[in-house]
Amino acid sequence: MCFDLFEDVFRSYHFVDFGNKIEECFLKILLKKKLSVKYFKPEIMLKRKFCEVCLDDFALVKLIGEGTFGRVYLSKRYYDNATFAIKIISKKASIRRNHNIRISVEKRCLLMINSPFVVRLEACFNSKTHVYLVQTMCQGGDIYFHLARSKQLSNNLARFYIAEVSVAIQAIHDVGILYRDLKPENIMIDSSGHVKLVDFGLAKIGVRSPFKGASTYVGTPQYLSPEMVKRENHGFALDWWGLGMVLFEMLTGLPPWYCDDNVEISRCIVEEEIDFSITNINWEAQSLIRCLLQKDPQYRLGSQNGLSDIKSHSYFRYLDFGKLATKQIKALFVPTLDGDFDIRYFDNFFTSKPISKLVF
Ligand SMILES: Nc1ncnc2c1ncn2[C@@H]1O[C@H](COP(=O)(O)OP(=O)(O)O)[C@@H](O)[C@H]1O
Ligand SMILES: [Mg+2]
Repeated sequence: MCFDLFEDVFRSYHFVDFGNKIEECFLKILLKKKLSVKYFKPEIMLKRKFCEVCLDDFALVKLIGEGTFGRVYLSKRYYDNATFAIKIISKKASIRRNHNIRISVEKRCLLMINSPFVVRLEACFNSKTHVYLVQTMCQGGDIYFHLARSKQLSNNLARFYIAEVSVAIQAIHDVGILYRDLKPENIMIDSSGHVKLVDFGLAKIGVRSPFKGASTYVGTPQYLSPEMVKRENHGFALDWWGLGMVLFEMLTGLPPWYCDDNVEISRCIVEEEIDFSITNINWEAQSLIRCLLQKDPQYRLGSQNGLSDIKSHSYFRYLDFGKLATKQIKALFVPTLDGDFDIRYFDNFFTSKPISKLVF
Protein backbone atom coordinates (compact mmCIF):
# COMPACT_ATOMS: atom_id res chain seq x y z
CA MET A 1 0.00 0.00 0.00
CA CYS A 2 2.66 2.46 1.03
CA PHE A 3 4.71 1.47 -1.97
CA ASP A 4 1.83 2.26 -4.31
CA LEU A 5 1.31 5.55 -2.66
CA PHE A 6 4.89 6.60 -3.11
CA GLU A 7 4.79 5.36 -6.64
CA ASP A 8 1.89 7.72 -7.16
CA VAL A 9 3.77 10.59 -5.64
CA PHE A 10 6.65 9.99 -7.98
CA ARG A 11 4.33 9.92 -10.94
CA SER A 12 2.49 12.98 -9.78
CA TYR A 13 5.66 14.87 -9.24
CA HIS A 14 5.46 16.43 -12.61
CA PHE A 15 2.12 18.03 -11.91
CA VAL A 16 3.74 20.36 -9.47
CA ASP A 17 6.63 22.68 -9.51
CA PHE A 18 9.49 22.40 -7.12
CA GLY A 19 9.42 23.33 -3.45
CA ASN A 20 6.43 23.64 -1.13
CA LYS A 21 3.90 22.63 -3.69
CA ILE A 22 5.06 19.03 -3.42
CA GLU A 23 3.45 18.78 0.00
CA GLU A 24 0.25 20.22 -1.38
CA CYS A 25 0.25 17.65 -4.15
CA PHE A 26 0.93 14.81 -1.77
CA LEU A 27 -2.02 15.77 0.38
CA LYS A 28 -4.24 16.02 -2.65
CA ILE A 29 -3.36 12.46 -3.59
CA LEU A 30 -4.21 11.25 -0.11
CA LEU A 31 -7.55 13.02 -0.23
CA LYS A 32 -8.32 11.73 -3.69
CA LYS A 33 -7.64 8.21 -2.56
CA LYS A 34 -9.82 8.89 0.51
CA LEU A 35 -6.96 7.86 2.73
CA SER A 36 -6.58 9.31 6.17
CA VAL A 37 -3.94 11.98 6.25
CA LYS A 38 -3.33 11.15 9.88
CA TYR A 39 -2.65 7.54 9.10
CA PHE A 40 0.02 8.50 6.63
CA LYS A 41 1.75 11.15 8.66
CA PRO A 42 4.95 9.14 9.15
CA GLU A 43 5.07 8.63 5.41
CA ILE A 44 4.73 12.34 4.84
CA MET A 45 7.91 12.69 6.79
CA LEU A 46 9.54 10.28 4.40
CA LYS A 47 8.12 11.74 1.26
CA ARG A 48 11.10 13.89 0.36
CA LYS A 49 13.11 10.79 -0.21
CA PHE A 50 10.80 9.90 -3.05
CA CYS A 51 9.62 13.28 -4.22
CA GLU A 52 12.76 15.22 -4.50
CA VAL A 53 14.05 13.46 -7.50
CA CYS A 54 17.58 14.28 -8.53
CA LEU A 55 20.27 12.85 -10.73
CA ASP A 56 21.54 10.68 -7.86
CA ASP A 57 18.33 8.62 -8.18
CA PHE A 58 19.32 7.49 -11.66
CA ALA A 59 22.14 5.73 -13.42
CA LEU A 60 22.74 7.07 -16.94
CA VAL A 61 23.14 3.89 -18.94
CA LYS A 62 23.62 4.96 -22.57
CA LEU A 63 23.48 8.04 -24.73
CA ILE A 64 20.61 7.44 -27.18
CA GLY A 65 20.11 10.79 -28.85
CA GLU A 66 21.41 14.24 -29.29
CA GLY A 67 19.74 17.33 -30.66
CA THR A 68 20.09 21.06 -30.77
CA PHE A 69 19.12 21.54 -27.16
CA GLY A 70 20.25 18.51 -25.28
CA ARG A 71 21.37 14.95 -24.92
CA VAL A 72 19.03 12.07 -24.20
CA TYR A 73 20.10 9.10 -22.09
CA LEU A 74 18.57 5.72 -21.40
CA SER A 75 18.56 5.78 -17.61
CA LYS A 76 17.76 3.42 -14.78
CA ARG A 77 16.02 4.48 -11.58
CA TYR A 78 17.98 2.85 -8.79
CA TYR A 79 15.14 2.06 -6.46
CA ASP A 80 13.15 -0.15 -8.81
CA ASN A 81 15.32 -0.50 -11.96
CA ALA A 82 12.62 1.21 -14.06
CA THR A 83 14.00 2.73 -17.27
CA PHE A 84 13.43 6.26 -18.57
CA ALA A 85 14.76 8.55 -21.26
CA ILE A 86 16.28 11.58 -19.55
CA LYS A 87 16.78 14.66 -21.66
CA ILE A 88 19.58 16.74 -20.18
CA ILE A 89 19.83 20.34 -21.23
CA SER A 90 22.74 22.58 -20.32
CA LYS A 91 21.49 25.84 -18.82
CA LYS A 92 24.60 27.68 -19.93
CA ALA A 93 24.34 26.55 -23.54
CA SER A 94 20.66 27.39 -23.74
CA ILE A 95 21.08 30.82 -22.18
CA ARG A 96 23.93 31.46 -24.59
CA ARG A 97 21.69 30.59 -27.50
CA ASN A 98 18.74 32.41 -26.00
CA HIS A 99 16.82 29.19 -25.66
CA ASN A 100 16.22 29.19 -21.93
CA ILE A 101 12.55 30.05 -22.39
CA ARG A 102 12.19 27.03 -24.66
CA ILE A 103 13.03 24.60 -21.85
CA SER A 104 10.24 25.93 -19.72
CA VAL A 105 7.88 25.85 -22.72
CA GLU A 106 8.85 22.23 -23.40
CA LYS A 107 8.16 21.26 -19.81
CA ARG A 108 4.84 23.12 -19.70
CA CYS A 109 3.71 21.53 -22.96
CA LEU A 110 4.49 18.02 -21.76
CA LEU A 111 2.49 18.69 -18.61
CA MET A 112 -0.49 20.04 -20.49
CA ILE A 113 -0.85 17.29 -23.06
CA ASN A 114 -2.48 14.01 -22.21
CA SER A 115 -2.33 11.68 -25.18
CA PRO A 116 -1.22 8.07 -25.60
CA PHE A 117 0.74 9.28 -28.63
CA VAL A 118 2.75 11.99 -26.88
CA VAL A 119 5.63 11.16 -24.58
CA ARG A 120 4.91 11.48 -20.87
CA LEU A 121 6.97 13.65 -18.57
CA GLU A 122 7.47 11.47 -15.51
CA ALA A 123 9.51 13.94 -13.50
CA CYS A 124 11.78 16.90 -13.92
CA PHE A 125 14.44 18.55 -11.85
CA ASN A 126 17.26 21.06 -11.95
CA SER A 127 20.85 21.15 -10.92
CA LYS A 128 22.91 24.32 -10.87
CA THR A 129 24.05 23.66 -14.41
CA HIS A 130 21.41 21.49 -16.12
CA VAL A 131 17.71 20.81 -16.49
CA TYR A 132 16.58 17.17 -16.52
CA LEU A 133 13.38 16.03 -18.19
CA VAL A 134 12.59 12.43 -17.23
CA GLN A 135 10.41 10.91 -19.94
CA THR A 136 8.90 7.56 -20.82
CA MET A 137 11.51 5.55 -22.70
CA CYS A 138 10.51 4.79 -26.31
CA GLN A 139 12.56 1.73 -27.10
CA GLY A 140 11.53 1.37 -30.72
CA GLY A 141 13.71 4.32 -31.79
CA ASP A 142 12.68 7.22 -33.99
CA ILE A 143 11.29 7.11 -37.52
CA TYR A 144 14.47 8.72 -38.84
CA PHE A 145 16.43 5.67 -37.68
CA HIS A 146 13.95 3.29 -39.36
CA LEU A 147 13.98 5.28 -42.59
CA ALA A 148 17.78 5.34 -42.63
CA ARG A 149 17.75 1.57 -42.30
CA SER A 150 14.95 0.55 -44.61
CA LYS A 151 14.93 3.61 -46.96
CA GLN A 152 11.14 3.78 -47.00
CA LEU A 153 8.15 2.41 -45.11
CA SER A 154 5.37 0.30 -46.57
CA ASN A 155 2.16 2.15 -47.36
CA ASN A 156 0.31 0.31 -44.57
CA LEU A 157 2.91 1.09 -41.94
CA ALA A 158 3.11 4.74 -43.01
CA ARG A 159 -0.70 5.01 -42.86
CA PHE A 160 -0.73 3.57 -39.34
CA TYR A 161 1.96 5.97 -38.08
CA ILE A 162 0.44 8.99 -39.82
CA ALA A 163 -2.97 8.21 -38.30
CA GLU A 164 -1.49 8.00 -34.78
CA VAL A 165 0.52 11.18 -35.35
CA SER A 166 -2.69 12.96 -36.51
CA VAL A 167 -4.44 11.96 -33.29
CA ALA A 168 -1.45 13.29 -31.33
CA ILE A 169 -1.46 16.58 -33.26
CA GLN A 170 -5.16 17.06 -32.55
CA ALA A 171 -4.60 16.39 -28.82
CA ILE A 172 -1.80 18.97 -28.87
CA HIS A 173 -3.98 21.55 -30.64
CA ASP A 174 -6.87 20.84 -28.26
CA VAL A 175 -4.89 22.35 -25.40
CA GLY A 176 -3.83 25.38 -27.45
CA ILE A 177 -0.36 24.23 -28.41
CA LEU A 178 1.20 24.52 -31.85
CA TYR A 179 3.91 21.86 -32.23
CA ARG A 180 6.00 23.30 -35.11
CA ASP A 181 8.61 20.53 -35.28
CA LEU A 182 7.06 17.58 -37.04
CA LYS A 183 9.85 15.49 -38.58
CA PRO A 184 10.96 11.83 -38.45
CA GLU A 185 13.54 12.47 -35.66
CA ASN A 186 10.78 13.59 -33.32
CA ILE A 187 8.41 10.68 -33.95
CA MET A 188 9.32 7.83 -31.64
CA ILE A 189 8.10 4.25 -31.59
CA ASP A 190 7.42 2.74 -28.16
CA SER A 191 8.10 -0.86 -27.21
CA SER A 192 4.64 -1.95 -28.36
CA GLY A 193 5.10 -0.32 -31.78
CA HIS A 194 2.91 2.75 -31.23
CA VAL A 195 3.91 6.31 -31.96
CA LYS A 196 4.97 8.89 -29.37
CA LEU A 197 5.84 12.48 -30.29
CA VAL A 198 8.76 14.00 -28.44
CA ASP A 199 10.49 17.40 -28.42
CA PHE A 200 8.36 20.43 -27.69
CA GLY A 201 11.36 22.77 -27.87
CA LEU A 202 9.82 24.80 -30.71
CA ALA A 203 6.20 24.64 -29.60
CA LYS A 204 4.04 27.69 -28.98
CA ILE A 205 1.51 27.79 -26.16
CA GLY A 206 -1.73 29.77 -26.35
CA VAL A 207 -2.60 29.28 -30.03
CA ARG A 208 -6.32 29.09 -30.85
CA SER A 209 -6.52 29.56 -34.60
CA PRO A 210 -5.54 27.57 -37.69
CA PHE A 211 -3.98 30.66 -39.23
CA LYS A 212 -2.61 32.91 -36.51
CA GLY A 213 -1.34 32.95 -32.94
CA ALA A 214 2.36 32.50 -33.63
CA SER A 215 4.83 34.58 -35.58
CA THR A 216 8.38 33.56 -34.59
CA TYR A 217 10.50 32.12 -37.38
CA VAL A 218 11.46 28.63 -36.14
CA GLY A 219 11.74 25.12 -37.56
CA THR A 220 13.99 22.82 -39.51
CA PRO A 221 14.77 24.14 -43.04
CA GLN A 222 13.51 21.06 -44.99
CA TYR A 223 10.22 20.95 -43.09
CA LEU A 224 9.21 24.63 -43.00
CA SER A 225 5.75 25.49 -44.25
CA PRO A 226 5.25 28.21 -46.90
CA GLU A 227 3.78 30.61 -44.32
CA MET A 228 6.84 30.07 -42.11
CA VAL A 229 9.25 30.60 -45.03
CA LYS A 230 7.40 33.84 -45.77
CA ARG A 231 7.63 34.75 -42.07
CA GLU A 232 3.90 35.21 -41.84
CA ASN A 233 1.65 34.66 -38.86
CA HIS A 234 0.83 31.00 -38.49
CA GLY A 235 -1.44 28.67 -36.56
CA PHE A 236 -2.54 25.02 -36.41
CA ALA A 237 -2.55 24.63 -40.21
CA LEU A 238 1.26 24.64 -40.03
CA ASP A 239 1.28 21.28 -38.22
CA TRP A 240 -0.98 19.71 -40.87
CA TRP A 241 1.57 20.80 -43.49
CA GLY A 242 4.18 18.99 -41.36
CA LEU A 243 2.05 15.85 -41.47
CA GLY A 244 2.09 15.91 -45.29
CA MET A 245 5.88 16.35 -45.33
CA VAL A 246 6.35 13.40 -43.00
CA LEU A 247 3.99 11.15 -44.98
CA PHE A 248 5.92 11.92 -48.17
CA GLU A 249 9.20 11.13 -46.45
CA MET A 250 7.93 7.89 -44.95
CA LEU A 251 6.90 6.70 -48.41
CA THR A 252 10.00 7.83 -50.33
CA GLY A 253 12.82 8.14 -47.78
CA LEU A 254 13.35 11.89 -48.31
CA PRO A 255 11.27 15.02 -47.73
CA PRO A 256 9.88 16.73 -50.86
CA TRP A 257 12.30 19.02 -52.74
CA TYR A 258 15.23 17.66 -50.76
CA CYS A 259 18.63 19.24 -51.51
CA ASP A 260 21.50 20.60 -49.48
CA ASP A 261 20.82 24.23 -50.35
CA ASN A 262 18.45 25.72 -47.80
CA VAL A 263 17.66 28.77 -49.96
CA GLU A 264 16.59 26.51 -52.83
CA ILE A 265 14.49 24.35 -50.47
CA SER A 266 12.72 27.46 -49.20
CA ARG A 267 12.02 28.57 -52.76
CA CYS A 268 10.58 25.17 -53.67
CA ILE A 269 8.43 25.07 -50.53
CA VAL A 270 6.78 28.33 -51.57
CA GLU A 271 6.72 27.90 -55.37
CA GLU A 272 7.11 24.33 -56.60
CA GLU A 273 4.50 21.62 -56.88
CA ILE A 274 5.52 18.10 -55.91
CA ASP A 275 6.63 15.83 -58.71
CA PHE A 276 5.08 12.45 -57.95
CA SER A 277 6.20 10.94 -61.25
CA ILE A 278 9.57 10.03 -59.73
CA THR A 279 7.95 8.25 -56.78
CA ASN A 280 5.91 5.07 -56.44
CA ILE A 281 3.37 6.60 -54.06
CA ASN A 282 -0.13 5.27 -54.67
CA TRP A 283 -2.78 7.73 -55.78
CA GLU A 284 -4.71 7.87 -52.47
CA ALA A 285 -1.55 8.75 -50.56
CA GLN A 286 -0.68 11.25 -53.31
CA SER A 287 -4.06 12.85 -52.91
CA LEU A 288 -3.68 13.16 -49.12
CA ILE A 289 -0.18 14.61 -49.51
CA ARG A 290 -1.47 17.15 -52.07
CA CYS A 291 -4.29 18.17 -49.72
CA LEU A 292 -1.92 18.56 -46.76
CA LEU A 293 0.78 20.32 -48.77
CA GLN A 294 -1.52 23.09 -50.00
CA LYS A 295 0.66 26.20 -50.07
CA ASP A 296 -2.20 28.41 -48.86
CA PRO A 297 -3.10 27.40 -45.28
CA GLN A 298 -6.73 28.43 -45.94
CA TYR A 299 -7.13 25.54 -48.39
CA ARG A 300 -5.02 23.01 -46.51
CA LEU A 301 -6.65 19.83 -45.23
CA GLY A 302 -7.01 20.06 -41.46
CA SER A 303 -7.25 23.85 -41.38
CA GLN A 304 -11.06 23.85 -41.19
CA ASN A 305 -11.92 20.93 -38.90
CA GLY A 306 -8.61 19.52 -37.73
CA LEU A 307 -8.47 15.76 -37.33
CA SER A 308 -12.03 15.29 -38.69
CA ASP A 309 -10.78 16.56 -42.05
CA ILE A 310 -7.90 14.10 -42.04
CA LYS A 311 -10.05 11.15 -40.98
CA SER A 312 -12.50 11.72 -43.79
CA HIS A 313 -9.85 11.44 -46.50
CA SER A 314 -10.14 8.27 -48.57
CA TYR A 315 -6.56 7.27 -47.64
CA PHE A 316 -8.00 6.27 -44.24
CA ARG A 317 -11.21 4.72 -45.62
CA TYR A 318 -10.71 1.37 -43.89
CA LEU A 319 -9.18 2.66 -40.67
CA ASP A 320 -11.27 2.78 -37.49
CA PHE A 321 -10.02 5.96 -35.80
CA GLY A 322 -12.08 5.20 -32.67
CA LYS A 323 -10.08 2.03 -32.11
CA LEU A 324 -6.85 3.63 -33.24
CA ALA A 325 -7.16 6.51 -30.75
CA THR A 326 -7.43 4.05 -27.86
CA LYS A 327 -4.54 1.93 -29.10
CA GLN A 328 -6.83 -0.97 -29.92
CA ILE A 329 -5.28 -1.40 -33.33
CA LYS A 330 -2.31 -3.65 -33.02
CA ALA A 331 0.89 -2.11 -34.31
CA LEU A 332 2.05 -3.43 -37.68
CA PHE A 333 5.65 -3.44 -36.53
CA VAL A 334 6.44 -4.44 -32.96
CA PRO A 335 10.08 -3.86 -32.05
CA THR A 336 12.04 -6.99 -31.21
CA LEU A 337 13.54 -6.28 -27.82
CA ASP A 338 15.66 -8.24 -25.45
CA GLY A 339 14.77 -6.51 -22.16
CA ASP A 340 14.44 -2.92 -21.02
CA PHE A 341 18.03 -1.99 -21.80
CA ASP A 342 18.02 -3.09 -25.42
CA ILE A 343 19.01 -0.09 -27.54
CA ARG A 344 19.26 -1.75 -30.94
CA TYR A 345 16.94 0.87 -32.48
CA PHE A 346 19.25 3.77 -31.64
CA ASP A 347 22.13 4.92 -33.77
CA ASN A 348 25.50 3.46 -32.95
CA PHE A 349 26.90 6.96 -33.42
CA PHE A 350 25.33 7.84 -30.04
CA THR A 351 25.20 4.53 -28.22
CA SER A 352 28.89 3.77 -28.77
CA LYS A 353 29.99 6.91 -26.90
CA PRO A 354 31.21 5.97 -23.41
CA ILE A 355 29.13 7.79 -20.80
CA SER A 356 32.18 8.62 -18.72
CA LYS A 357 33.60 10.73 -21.56
CA LEU A 358 30.49 12.86 -21.83
CA VAL A 359 30.49 16.13 -19.99
CA PHE A 360 27.47 17.07 -17.89
N1 LIG B 1 11.44 9.56 -24.72
C1 LIG B 1 12.42 9.14 -25.54
N2 LIG B 1 12.71 7.83 -25.65
C2 LIG B 1 13.71 7.42 -26.47
N3 LIG B 1 14.45 8.25 -27.23
C3 LIG B 1 14.20 9.57 -27.15
C4 LIG B 1 13.19 10.09 -26.31
N4 LIG B 1 13.17 11.43 -26.45
C5 LIG B 1 14.13 11.72 -27.35
N5 LIG B 1 14.76 10.62 -27.78
C6 LIG B 1 15.86 10.56 -28.78
O1 LIG B 1 16.70 11.68 -28.63
C7 LIG B 1 16.67 12.52 -29.81
C8 LIG B 1 16.76 13.97 -29.42
O2 LIG B 1 15.70 14.29 -28.53
P1 LIG B 1 14.82 15.60 -28.69
O3 LIG B 1 13.86 15.69 -27.55
O4 LIG B 1 14.22 15.61 -30.06
O5 LIG B 1 15.93 16.73 -28.54
P2 LIG B 1 16.22 18.04 -29.39
O6 LIG B 1 15.28 19.06 -28.87
O7 LIG B 1 17.62 18.37 -29.00
O8 LIG B 1 16.03 17.72 -30.84
C9 LIG B 1 15.38 12.11 -30.52
O9 LIG B 1 15.48 12.35 -31.92
C10 LIG B 1 15.26 10.63 -30.19
O10 LIG B 1 16.06 9.83 -31.05
MG1 LIG C 1 14.32 16.77 -31.77
